[in-house]
Amino acid sequence: MNMKEMINKFKLSPLQFLFLIAGIVWLIVIAGTVYNLPDIPKTARDEIRNVITKDTTKVADLEFNKGKVIPGVQISAVLAPNEKLLAMGEASFKSTCASCHGEKGFGDGAGGAMLNPKPRNFHEKTGWKNGREMFSMFKTLQEGIAGSGMNAFEFLPVEELFAIIYYIRSFTNDFPPVTEEEVKKIDDTYDITRDKKGGASIPVAVAENKIIKEHNKNIDDVLSKIEKSGNAALTIFEKITSDKRKAIQTLSVNKEWQNNLQNFSKIITSNVNINGFKASASRLTSGQLSELQSFLKNMII
Ligand code: HEC
Repeated sequence: MNMKEMINKFKLSPLQFLFLIAGIVWLIVIAGTVYNLPDIPKTARDEIRNVITKDTTKVADLEFNKGKVIPGVQISAVLAPNEKLLAMGEASFKSTCASCHGEKGFGDGAGGAMLNPKPRNFHEKTGWKNGREMFSMFKTLQEGIAGSGMNAFEFLPVEELFAIIYYIRSFTNDFPPVTEEEVKKIDDTYDITRDKKGGASIPVAVAENKIIKEHNKNIDDVLSKIEKSGNAALTIFEKITSDKRKAIQTLSVNKEWQNNLQNFSKIITSNVNINGFKASASRLTSGQLSELQSFLKNMII
């Protein structure tokens, strides 16, 4: 087959034929360029690898420790922050507290996302249960906050507890000043200068797991309470949910919907499906909405 026959066979005009040839030449040039691309230098590859491993390295978790001695501390050593305390506090905060309270203390750690109440945002001044004074924060770490995900950390060395608190205080500059009387009061209450035999600690990962399990159990309990209620609003709930457990979870995270019908409507109609509700939730009459709201308010406390 000569060129003329080929052109005839595919019914190409001479111009189309020219374009075809130009296209083929262009592909060959591109392929050549790609083939000749320089390899990534080894040092650059190592750098990339370093960044990747750095980011995925897990900070060592606490170990189960039974009956270890918890060293006491000299009062003079913890009256004020210094470089050593702050460095110790930073390392300890990042490995022990940041999973719930967030790297920078905004209460936004992944481990705390599902908790209710939410982990404290250390940048906020209001709403603290024990308080922001050195004594109160120390008490929180010694005793935990009952009824929340905040466990006691009394098994950590006293110096480390002060170190963590000083590190948290460095997030903002408006914490109440620490006085010697206050530290003495801490000593009167918790006998911090004496070495003590510690109780058992559990690793944070185990604690988080426990919380998640408890959380799931709570959702199951609420769901079975809802289903057994026999309330008329139950029909509405079943009609507008795509995943009842997810819906309960959505309503458990933030309860601002309980006293405001507009908030309630907003929470069940935004992120439809992801939030466990169907698009039909937006078609409820205001009468149905408020009936459902007051029903769920009694179920999700
Ligand atoms: C498993 C999640 C979790 C971890 C880990 C955790 N916290 Fe908390 N923390 C919470 C929650 C939840 C609250 C809110 C408690 C409340 O308001 O009832 C809280 C509250 C607090 C408060 C405020 C108490 C108050 O007066 O209201 C302090 C201080 C605190 N945590 C310090 C720490 C420190 C320091 C660490 C690390 C040694 C830590 N937390 C680790 C969940 C956690």
